[in-house]
Amino acid sequence: MFVPERKFFYFLGGYMKGNLESLLNEIKAKIAEANSLENLTDVFNIYYAKKGKISELMQLMRNIPNEEKAEYGKEVNALKEEANLLLASKKQVLEQAALSQQLEQEKIDLTLPGKNYYTGGINPLFLIKDEIENIFIGMGYEIAEGPEIEADHFNFELLNIPADHPARDMQDSFYIDEKTLLRTHTSPVQARVMQEKKGQPIKIICPGKVFRRDDDDATHSHQFAQVEGLVIDKNINMANLKATLELFIRKMFGEKREIRLRSSYFPFTEPSVEVDVSCFECGGKGCSVCKGTGWIEILGAGMVHPNVLQMNGYNPEEYQGFAFGIGIERVAMLRYGIDDIRKFYTNDIRFLQQYVRIK
Ligand code: PHE
Repeated sequence: MFVPERKFFYFLGGYMKGNLESLLNEIKAKIAEANSLENLTDVFNIYYAKKGKISELMQLMRNIPNEEKAEYGKEVNALKEEANLLLASKKQVLEQAALSQQLEQEKIDLTLPGKNYYTGGINPLFLIKDEIENIFIGMGYEIAEGPEIEADHFNFELLNIPADHPARDMQDSFYIDEKTLLRTHTSPVQARVMQEKKGQPIKIICPGKVFRRDDDDATHSHQFAQVEGLVIDKNINMANLKATLELFIRKMFGEKREIRLRSSYFPFTEPSVEVDVSCFECGGKGCSVCKGTGWIEILGAGMVHPNVLQMNGYNPEEYQGFAFGIGIERVAMLRYGIDDIRKFYTNDIRFLQQYVRIK
């Protein structure tokens, strides 16, 4: 067995001592050189990793004579500790530098204009539709619905407008085939609800889209919206119609408004009326809004024609009813002072944003 001479150990011990010092200097130099956290990690790895230089020193322990082991271990530990402190303080310096650099780069300029987020809003047409619905719901009406693609039968026939009736000219239509069309008014819902209620009293409104073959301009649109109203019961008369519309119009345009019924013609009502409201702009004196007349035409209405009652299952001797049709765009245009019906449908954000009201 090879037993090395003691002298050899002394020599090794002496050698190691010098070595420890130069290693510490080396580490110091490397730490001083490190100018980024990555560099510093590299330094750490070189000296502290499993096969790093400091671990190597510990492994040499077994070659140190026993009586010097404690001394040697102390010195290695002292080196380790000092290197640790140096690393930690350099780490702090570098972290601080990295943070200030980051802060510098991410500096927020509070004077820059912010980003605008537009969350959308409700089209003024729908604001008015909701308002109309609420007024009638308050009067005990139910909301009914009907299809936008409608049978000729419902759109015309059951409303007392047979195939060759001249009144069809009033409502030029988009036909899908000979018997189907885009409904030209919400009145077919009258017939649908009557058939559904089978002779029972009715009190409904029906808001919805309608379509007519029209050249679009400031007051015409091939698509627009109506609210149909229908009340059927025993002992219903024109006074009920007038009182209902008066209440609606005062809620919509102000308590001071008067209404005026002018005789008119619709094939499905008899008598038929056009309803005017006293001008809310000039109070009736005459201005540009009412075209000097003091009155603004607002809707069509009448007593349900006995033929319509009969065709849809109601006995006109027993039941009467009134019906009305309100153009929603017209009401919205008057309420908001909008001068072109096309604005409701062309999605101009500058126009729509004026009415944004998020619920
Ligand atoms: N449907 C008619 C139109 O669109 C309006 C109306 C409805 C008239 C109900 C009388 C009764 O012109």
